[in-house]
Amino acid sequence: EKGKFKHFMLKEIYEQPGVTLAAFQDRVQDALVNERAFGEHASAIFDQVKQIQIIACGTSYHAGMIAKYWMEGLAGIPCHVEVASEYRYRPVVIQEGTLFISISQSGETADTLAALRDVKQQILASLTICNVPGSSLVRESDLFLMTNAGPEIGVASTKAFTTQLVCLLLTTVVIGRRFKMTQAKERQIVESLMLLPSLIEQALAMDADIELMSQAFAEKHHSLFLGRGTLYPVAMEGALKLKEISYIHAEAYPAGELKHGPLALVDKDMPVVTIAPRNDMLDKLKANLQEVSARGGELFIFAGCTQKVQAGDGIHVLGMPEMPEILEPIVYTIPLQLLSYHVAVLKGTDVDQPRNLAKSVTVE
Ligand code: F6R
Repeated sequence: EKGKFKHFMLKEIYEQPGVTLAAFQDRVQDALVNERAFGEHASAIFDQVKQIQIIACGTSYHAGMIAKYWMEGLAGIPCHVEVASEYRYRPVVIQEGTLFISISQSGETADTLAALRDVKQQILASLTICNVPGSSLVRESDLFLMTNAGPEIGVASTKAFTTQLVCLLLTTVVIGRRFKMTQAKERQIVESLMLLPSLIEQALAMDADIELMSQAFAEKHHSLFLGRGTLYPVAMEGALKLKEISYIHAEAYPAGELKHGPLALVDKDMPVVTIAPRNDMLDKLKANLQEVSARGGELFIFAGCTQKVQAGDGIHVLGMPEMPEILEPIVYTIPLQLLSYHVAVLKGTDVDQPRNLAKSVTVE
């Protein structure tokens, strides 16, 4: 039931402090990750992993894209990520020692399941990160880690995504131990995770500001989302949410690509949302962004260090709480979920049941 919330989507957005906690609390002990959580045979399998292939669709694919930054950047493990519908229909090269990771809320997505079935004989093992116990992906994978988000009713995925990210971070740690991740780094990551529920609470407290911001989008037909590093897939996820439930065309770009084409599109009718948590990236972005505001474009910047970003004509700065870098993709997702929600409410669309979409895509 929706309780005090007007829509399931909003209820599920607000469940995120609790469900992200449920995704890690029983799986860590003394600031270390317990790899038994992945199954009895997990350790023996992880010992043999040489690289990772992640397969998923939609929002789950965005989680996979973030995991690639973690796997290669934090753990030093080669990692590929691809949408299931492409992967399954092309000849692929599978190297020895490949751990195949599927990510899926429903565990029933036809393309993801078909991709797993196609490669089963060629991979080292399969692991699914999934929200539905007993689903096809869970039954057919060698290992599974449940996201523990509880039933997700809103068609637009929210809490499934953030809990997938928590699980992928745990996965990065347990495999990373066999590669370049030190125990000190592992402890630092687990201690950061402990801060996650309260950081999500703080992000949820931005709701009134986001509702105000949504007015700038309701009448628009196009929008641009920019991010860099792990925040690029977050920009993609923010754009997908806006498309799905408010029917506004939203495109995400890696921030550095702006001047390679999309900048030509920007004018007063195309709001730009930028996720720019830290100073290093902010300096580079600022130059790009000035070009956008010079064209009358309206900018919305989610930033962690607001003192460095000058609000001004057409530039709106939304201050995010201070947080460990590792948590940024999870916490910065929250205001983007709220943005799409409020724009959809303003437009009067069916938030929980967007047109043309199904919760579980069991056909191609
Ligand atoms: C987006 C959304 C879809 C799903 C996609 C994969 O809000 O819900 O893009 O993420 O259909 O579904 P699962 O995760 O069930 O495999």
